[in-house]
Amino acid sequence: MGIQAWDPALPNHDSIYAMMYPTMEGKTCLVTGGSDGIGYAAALELARMDATVLVVGRNAEKTEAAVARIRRETGNPLVSFLLADLSSQREVRRLAAEVKEKAPRLDVLLNNAGAIFLSHETSVDGIEMTFALNHLGYFLLTTLLLDVLEQSAPARIINVSSSSHYSAGNFRLEDLPRPGNGRSYQAYGRSKLCNVLFTYELARRLEGSGVTVNALHPGLVRTRIARNNGVLGRVANFFIGVRGVDATRGAETPVYLASSPEVETVTGKFYIDCRAVASSPLSYETGLTAELWELSERLTADSATED
Ligand SMILES: NC(=O)c1ccc[n+]([C@@H]2O[C@H](COP(=O)([O-])OP(=O)(O)OC[C@H]3O[C@@H](n4cnc5c(N)ncnc54)[C@H](OP(=O)(O)O)[C@@H]3O)[C@@H](O)[C@H]2O)c1
Repeated sequence: MGIQAWDPALPNHDSIYAMMYPTMEGKTCLVTGGSDGIGYAAALELARMDATVLVVGRNAEKTEAAVARIRRETGNPLVSFLLADLSSQREVRRLAAEVKEKAPRLDVLLNNAGAIFLSHETSVDGIEMTFALNHLGYFLLTTLLLDVLEQSAPARIINVSSSSHYSAGNFRLEDLPRPGNGRSYQAYGRSKLCNVLFTYELARRLEGSGVTVNALHPGLVRTRIARNNGVLGRVANFFIGVRGVDATRGAETPVYLASSPEVETVTGKFYIDCRAVASSPLSYETGLTAELWELSERLTADSATED
């Protein structure tokens, strides 16, 4: 049977948690963007399942408070945090080194930290900010942690993408890193298409390794994702809030992919509402997936030689 198209009218999965591992005890999960929104809700759920959880945030006070809340609510003491601005390659490299120091094994990598930028911003590496954070952040952290994930196999990588990847439109891959290229919402959709392209290319490269990688859309979720953008961001968050589900619901698909035995060996798929569905036609272009990989390697190479 071919893969089904996404139908927003389909009911959500009713018994997700019943199908999960009864426990994630002994498993280490790294959740980026765990200080708020979907990442926080996912970290909380994984902690409830007794996983060792490493929460990655960028603000010390906020992330420490999030971890304290998770520990208090779950009674799980094995929740701790690491800090990094994931739009900075130097910080991603430092984070990866700290993870390796702190965690002898890594069973789940949940790449979730992301943002919308409503005006043009440039990362410290001189790259368009949406692409730098939403795609290169995932790419660099994942490739730096691949050795520990492979040593820990079976292991899972989960990339939080978005349904906005369906409307990524026409673009030239090599233009994506250029500051000021295209409208902000287009930049977001394209970065989320990159999450899917990266997932498919990585799945091909990891075949037979015991490490799976899948991407997902969490639904429209009531978070403050546009908070980086002043008044405009508050207006955007208000409208998302009116129609969005809560973050716990938004975390269902990432937590399902992180923990359910049902998907233990599934790789290279795109999920919505805990179901594998077809991603955009563009995302299946193998030339594009390979080209994005090469571009990402090139764009992150220089930071490897900085001290
Ligand atoms: N909300 C939705 O409707 C929706 C729909 C589709 C896809 N998504 C995707 O879901 C993921 C999570 O979004 P969310 O809605 O949960 O947003 P959120 O509530 O704003 O959470 C984003 C998380 O990422 C962190 N983050 C942002 N910029 C960062 C940076 N430069 N370095 C390190 N961490 C950074 C934030 O840290 P701070 O707490 O310090 O800000 C926060 O922990 C994103 O990848 C987004 O594209 C969301």
